[in-house]
Order: sequence, then structure tokens, then C-alpha cells
Amino acid sequence: MRVVLLPGDCIGPEVMAEARRVLEVVSPDVELDEQLFGAAAIRATGEPLPEATLEACRGAEAILKAPIGAPEFEAADVRPEQGLMRLRSELDVYANLRPARRDGIDVLIVRELVGGIYYGARGVREDGTVFDTCEYHPSQVDRVARCAFELARARRSHVTSVDKANVLETSRMWRRVVTEVARDFADVELEHMLVDNAAMQLIQAPERFDVLVTDNMFGDILSDEAAAVTGGLGLAGSASLGDGGPGIFEPVHGSAPDIAGRGIANPAAMLRSTALMFAHGLGRPLVARRLEEAVDWALADSPTPDLGGEATTREFGEAVLARLRV
Ligand code: NAD
Ligand code: IPM
Ligand code: MN
Repeated sequence: MRVVLLPGDCIGPEVMAEARRVLEVVSPDVELDEQLFGAAAIRATGEPLPEATLEACRGAEAILKAPIGAPEFEAADVRPEQGLMRLRSELDVYANLRPARRDGIDVLIVRELVGGIYYGARGVREDGTVFDTCEYHPSQVDRVARCAFELARARRSHVTSVDKANVLETSRMWRRVVTEVARDFADVELEHMLVDNAAMQLIQAPERFDVLVTDNMFGDILSDEAAAVTGGLGLAGSASLGDGGPGIFEPVHGSAPDIAGRGIANPAAMLRSTALMFAHGLGRPLVARRLEEAVDWALADSPTPDLGGEATTREFGEAVLARLRV
């Protein structure tokens, strides 16, 4: 079994180091194959997703990825984020699971990940107008909706489909297709909600949600919001899954250039992504549960500064390892 590690940029390598140490303890039999990606790859090769990295990813069991992105490339033509979008698309990981949990709140956002405005035609017209287009084929909506309904069945059997059907053509089709898919899941309750209302209710009444399914852009925004409502970006992991090929497991948060190099990033999101990899990528649910429990324990024992604590990234990792060794 081989897992590709993409250490990413800014705080990426700092949180990945803790994931690597955990992997060496909980799955010494899994081969770890570190590859160039993101800003580091642009500096070394001129492109954010070198062919060798893509090939290594295709042949792996799973991909564990730390955040990418660096201020020096913000305005560049070649950017780390383009590599991430290409990797997701090449592996066709269309369902991005972003769980957010705390006390009475247990929300699972299922974000469509390889379509919509992220991948539509974009450009500049002669008169200077700049455009990005949002496009979806019904089959892209159908498959991610099925995934959301399946996941809801194993939870509280409730799906909220989030769109902007009062304005957008793509959303009107989205709503129609999700309604059709719901017929195959009579045991799951479906509601439709407009995205502005969903953004409000996620803050005002987050406990009312079970599974949310939504498009690429709305899912990007709502998942940062759900993370904030349940303790912050430092806690939120994710799993990006397709049909059969390797999944990508990565934190919801970015490369946090504002705190990079100080050793204070919270590695919980990275470690929870690692747990999601054991559950959804490597078929080892028991390891996943053990790791989740150890992360919860470390969050109570040694919180990092984003949570009001004083632990460093390494100290948090040490606490997780200590708990795993018990
Ligand atoms: P960000 O998520 O990096 O940071 C937002 C805020 O949250 C910052 O104040 C940061 O310090 C804090 N934060 C984030 N993760 C944290 C952690 N683990 N511990 C403690 N604090 C944490 O968002 P941004 O600043 O808008 O983006 C920075 C870069 O990251 C950009 O280049 C962006 O494109 C990239 N990005 C990458 C990914 C990814 O690789 N999947 C995701 C989001 C953003
Ligand atoms: C995320 C990030 C990415 C996205 C960026 C870095 C392309 O914000 O994974 O949430 O928007 O999908
Ligand atoms: Mn995002």
C-alpha cells in the first residue's frame, strides 16, 4: 500500500510533519511517497502539478495533502491553486466530504468538487469585460446527490440541498435533478434551501442540519463557515472521493501565510484528514476511530493558540502520539 504525501506550502510542511509521525506509528506497513506540489513545485519545475507527481498520485492508494498557496504567486499567471484544481479534476474526485461537529452540532457538507464556476469557461473580452461561467451537466449533479443521500442514510437521514434557484439556471437544474434522485431514497428526507438563507441558518441554527449537498463554489464558502461555527478552521478535515480511484484527503483550511514558520499552526485538521483517509481511502475504520479519539483528547489536553491554548504544532502532535501509544 502506497500513500502519496503532498506537504504543501507555508504551514503545509509544519502540519504534514505531524501527520507523517502519526502514520509511522499507526500504519508502519504503508509506504509514504512524498511528491512535489503547489508553490514548492512551481519553484522547482515551473508548474504546480508536475507530471511525475500526477503519475505517482494516480497509482497510489490515497493522497494525503497539506494546504498549498503562497503570497509570492498570488498575482502570477501560474499559481499553486491551479495545480490543486487540475489534480482534483484528473482524479475526478467529485464528492468532497467536509464534516463539522461539536456538542449538539453534526453537519456533513458534501461539496461538488470538479465542476461549476471553478471549471467553466473564463476569459477577457475585447472591451475589457472579464468573465467566469458556471456550468453543470445533470449527470454531475446526479452523482454527487446520490453520494449525499447514501451518506445521509448512515446518519440522520436528512439532506438539505443548497442552491440559488431563484436566480441561476444551473441551480434550477440542480434542484430538479436532486429532487429526481430523492425518489430513489424514500427513507431520506429532502429539503431545498437558498444559499443566502443556508449561510444564515448555519450560524443561527446549525443543529438543524444533517447532510448539506451543494455546488463547488457554495460548498467552498459554507464549509469555512461550518468550520468556524464548530471551533475554527484549524479543526476541519476533508475527504475528496470519486468512483474507484484514489481519494484526496486534505484540511479545509489554507496555507495560513500569516502564521507560517512559527510552529503554532493547529495540526488537528490535517490529522482529522488523515483519519478520514484511513476510513474512506484505506479501509481501516478502526485506525480512523483511534486517531480521531486521540485528536479529540489532544484538543482538550494541549490546544494550540487558535483555540486559546499555548501548545505548539509539535506539542499537539506529541499529545496525539502519547494518546495513541496508551
Ligand atoms: P487560510 O485558511 O490559509 O487562513 C485563514 C485564517 O485561518 C488565517 O488567519 C490563518 O492563520 C487561520 N488558520 C488556517 N489554518 C489554521 C491552522 N491549521 N491553525 C491555526 N490557524 C489557522 O486562508 P487564506 O489566508 O485566505 O489563504 C491562504 C492561502 O491558502 C491562499 O493562497 C489560498 O489560495 C490557499 N488555500 C489553500 C487551500 C488548500 O490547499 N486546500 C485551502 C484554502 C486556501
Ligand atoms: C479549498 C480551497 C480551494 C478551493 C482553493 C485553494 C482552490 O479554498 O480547498 O477549500 O477553493 O477549492
Ligand atoms: Mn476553501
